[in-house]
Amino acid sequence: MSARLAWRRSPLPQLSLAAAAIFLLTASWQLASAQQLSDDQLTQVKARLAQGATHSWEIGTRAQALTEYDTPSYSVLNSTSLPPPKSSAPSSLDEVLSIAHSVVTSRNSTGPQPLIGGTQNGEAAADPASIGVAVLLANWTGAGSSDGLDYAGAAQDQLDYLLESVPRSSDGAISHRVENVQLWSDFVYMVPPFLAYYGVLNQNQSLLQAAYDQCRLYRQALVDDDAGGMWRHITGNSTDNGHWTTGNGWAAAGMLRVLGTIQNSQYSKKMKQQSKDLAGWVSEIHTGIYPHLQTTGLFKNYADDAASFEDGSGTALIASTVYRLALLAGVHTHLPLAEQSRASLSAPNSTSSSSSSSSASSSSQTSTAPISTATAPTGSLAHFTSDGWLQPVVDPYNVGVQGEHSPEGQAFVVEMYAAWRDWAALGSPGKNGAAAQAMHMGVVTVAVSLCIVVLLL
Ligand SMILES: *[C@@H]1O[C@H](CO)[C@@H](O)[C@H](O)[C@H]1NC(C)=O
Ligand SMILES: *[C@@H]1O[C@H](CO)[C@@H](O)[C@H](O)[C@H]1NC(C)=O
Ligand SMILES: *[C@@H]1O[C@H](CO)[C@@H](O)[C@H](O)[C@H]1NC(C)=O
Ligand SMILES: *[C@@H]1O[C@H](CO)[C@@H](O)[C@H](O)[C@H]1NC(C)=O
Ligand SMILES: *[C@@H]1O[C@H](CO)[C@@H](O)[C@H](O)[C@H]1NC(C)=O
Ligand SMILES: *[C@@H]1O[C@H](CO)[C@@H](O)[C@H](O)[C@H]1NC(C)=O
Repeated sequence: MSARLAWRRSPLPQLSLAAAAIFLLTASWQLASAQQLSDDQLTQVKARLAQGATHSWEIGTRAQALTEYDTPSYSVLNSTSLPPPKSSAPSSLDEVLSIAHSVVTSRNSTGPQPLIGGTQNGEAAADPASIGVAVLLANWTGAGSSDGLDYAGAAQDQLDYLLESVPRSSDGAISHRVENVQLWSDFVYMVPPFLAYYGVLNQNQSLLQAAYDQCRLYRQALVDDDAGGMWRHITGNSTDNGHWTTGNGWAAAGMLRVLGTIQNSQYSKKMKQQSKDLAGWVSEIHTGIYPHLQTTGLFKNYADDAASFEDGSGTALIASTVYRLALLAGVHTHLPLAEQSRASLSAPNSTSSSSSSSSASSSSQTSTAPISTATAPTGSLAHFTSDGWLQPVVDPYNVGVQGEHSPEGQAFVVEMYAAWRDWAALGSPGKNGAAAQAMHMGVVTVAVSLCIVVLLL
């Protein structure tokens, strides 16, 4: 009663609540209709990726991003059934096959070993396996018959190395590093998708099961229930308990590739429960991390650490997994937020737009594009340098600090756009549902606010 009287005395809070609801609703519609990167801009992003990818996991991630973007029907994330045709590959796969060629041609011995670096490898044990899918694809499409390289042998040596030489935790998780047992969230993108693809091409269901089991064991070791389901970065004989955004992305994207491999394979019916678990574990990461999305549309480098800087690369990777989860498992919950991230990362540079707005309006009168846009496609974007590097980004070689360039971040932008395009091509399933839901909630908020005002005035 007294509360009601208090409300009655000051209707202003209700009015401002209603105004805020209307404002938020309008703002979300503006975001939904925001711009996207052009083909030219994405070509420039890919050029920087090609230039920057030199470490094993960058090379593997580049091969995966190019497959998803240029030849979706050969990606395990596409609904095309597996295995792909044995006939020679389409020319759109040339770059991916040339990555496999240059890696396999540098090998100078046989026997269990990673695809890059030999057993003296100072890098992680798991990272070179990220190139494994491209090598398997080269073998499958008969590249060896024209260049004489033993792609199947190289893939098998990488597999044997992982299964026989790399140490494991007591419950069987393969270590990310070879010198002692360390479980890094990054592993989930590097190794399980390779095991799964190997299993499908070689009719070996136990390898698909192993891919699933590694995801399960890594989740068990790294998931943080106190952080809503986000994953910690590293455990074992090295520790990073922080909720690294890119690490959560590596885990979600890796599990989605295993899910896609199972679901599009001859084993899909036998492995329904595994598919269900994987989709649930990706959702769990989304549910944990999205409450920490900044109003800028980006995540912090450590998602729940306010002192951390914003990171475009992890943001792009996480967004890509939202579209993929919608396509593979029909989960639509976080699509509006992924759209917000994609729009923000694709936004024009508003700092320079005040000076260029007059030229924009004059160019619309003459219908000619400004010359600067033609020569430097990403030159006028807020989150890319004029030559196409995403920013701001975490330093991929020192994950606690902000870096200048991130080759993996370039790949994540390509993966985000491949995922968004595939989702849009199917009519953006869930977008209207999600938007309608948001609109519905907005309308209800406004209506309820107005009713309260009317009742109480
Ligand atoms: C699968 O790939 C084809 C092109 O080969 C593309 O048109 C389609 O949108 C993709 N579908 C999905 C679900 O990714
Ligand atoms: C063999 O390859 C490894 C790794 O690429 C390299 O370090 C080594 O020098 C090579 N050895 C020879 C004899 O070429
Ligand atoms: C290599 O390709 C051949 C022929 O397509 C296939 O039979 C074989 O299983 C493949 N090997 C591996 C390791 O994937
Ligand atoms: C599946 O692959 C594993 C690992 O290489 C191997 O030990 C096993 O014999 C294979 N199973 C079949 C049925 O080929
Ligand atoms: C961790 O690694 C160091 C160096 O390899 C080693 O000395 C130490 O025994 C390891 N500790 C555990 C718990 O494995
Ligand atoms: C945005 O424009 C301003 C003013 O031209 C410039 O100083 C800044 O570097 C631009 N930002 C990016 C990311 O290009």
